[in-house]
Amino acid sequence: MVLLDISIQSRVIIGISAMVLLFSSFLVTFIATQRKKLQYHKNLQAIQEEQKNALLQQNALLEDRVGERTAELSEQKDALQTALSELKSSQLQLIQKEKMASLGELTAGIAHEIQNPLNFVNNFAEINAELFDEMKEKLAEDQLPEKLKLEIDPLIGDLTENLIKIVHHGKRADNIVKNMLQHSRKQSGEMELADINILAEEYLQLSYHGYRAKHKGFNCTVKTSFGDGIGRINIIPEDIGRILINLFNNAFYSTTEKQKTKSSDYIPVVSLTTKKNGNKAEISIRDNGIGISQKFIDKIYQPFFTTKPTGEGTGLGLSMSYDIIKAHQGNLKVESVEGEFAEFTIELNC
Ligand SMILES: Nc1ncnc2c1ncn2[C@@H]1O[C@H](COP(=O)(O)OP(=O)(O)O)[C@@H](O)[C@H]1O
Ligand SMILES: [Mg+2]
Repeated sequence: MVLLDISIQSRVIIGISAMVLLFSSFLVTFIATQRKKLQYHKNLQAIQEEQKNALLQQNALLEDRVGERTAELSEQKDALQTALSELKSSQLQLIQKEKMASLGELTAGIAHEIQNPLNFVNNFAEINAELFDEMKEKLAEDQLPEKLKLEIDPLIGDLTENLIKIVHHGKRADNIVKNMLQHSRKQSGEMELADINILAEEYLQLSYHGYRAKHKGFNCTVKTSFGDGIGRINIIPEDIGRILINLFNNAFYSTTEKQKTKSSDYIPVVSLTTKKNGNKAEISIRDNGIGISQKFIDKIYQPFFTTKPTGEGTGLGLSMSYDIIKAHQGNLKVESVEGEFAEFTIELNC
């Protein structure tokens, strides 16, 4: 009986040791379990973090895609809007073209009708001038009584002068009719050598009288100054004519507008100046009308830009002028002070 031999003290020690052993093994197991739990939580956190990152990335990707798609859509919207406004503007241009074409045909018809009787007037005026010369010679030969001669001579002088006027103005009318015919030609004309001074003067007369016919009571001082040495230059005359008509009409209109607001001492003046500047021919049209406001000056060449009421302006004149001048490799410049003046200058190579 060994056990019985062990003293009580030893038995206590053994008991305590056994308890310590038991406790330590329990502690070890507990710590191990806690560690595992901690590890598990850590792993869980890592997985959650990973998932969160993946979600964030996915979100960023989606946001990028949405952004791209929105940009694409707004680009498409812009393109559609541009196409729509282009369509509208070309529709308007077509209507305008159609109107101009019928107006052109009408002008051509009238011009043709006038040309025939005008040819008669001019031809007979020339024949009359020759007959007059003959008559003068005959009268000089015949021994007429002095009293009769004194009466007839001044009459013949007056008649000759009248005839010279008929021939001169008949030729002018003939030129105008020819211009009207050229102007109303449908297709764009050919480049040809034309005298800038004559062309500008003719279109000034044409525009002034045309404007006065349309605006009863309109009057304006027209000044001209023609430079030397420009001569004939290569242009499409009826196209340059179209520009001139528009520039003159704009100038007359501007002075009419100013007249409405100014006292009676305002004198409307439109001046036409041509000059040679190096290898350039310059045609300037200046008016002392309402001028152009700074906020509009960059817009005036845009198609359909107009400050005139409906029926007065289409806003196509200057844009057409700009295109024609570019096709001639020239320049169209504008200078203006609002309320004071506006001056347009055409520069052409010569
Ligand atoms: N001489 C001028 N004086 C003042 N404004 C002018 C003059 N010429 C052109 N403008 C301005 O430019 C605009 C566009 O001219 P234009 O293209 O000829 O079209 P529209 O004469 O049909 O209005 C005019 O409506 C006007 O506002
Ligand atoms: Mg105009």
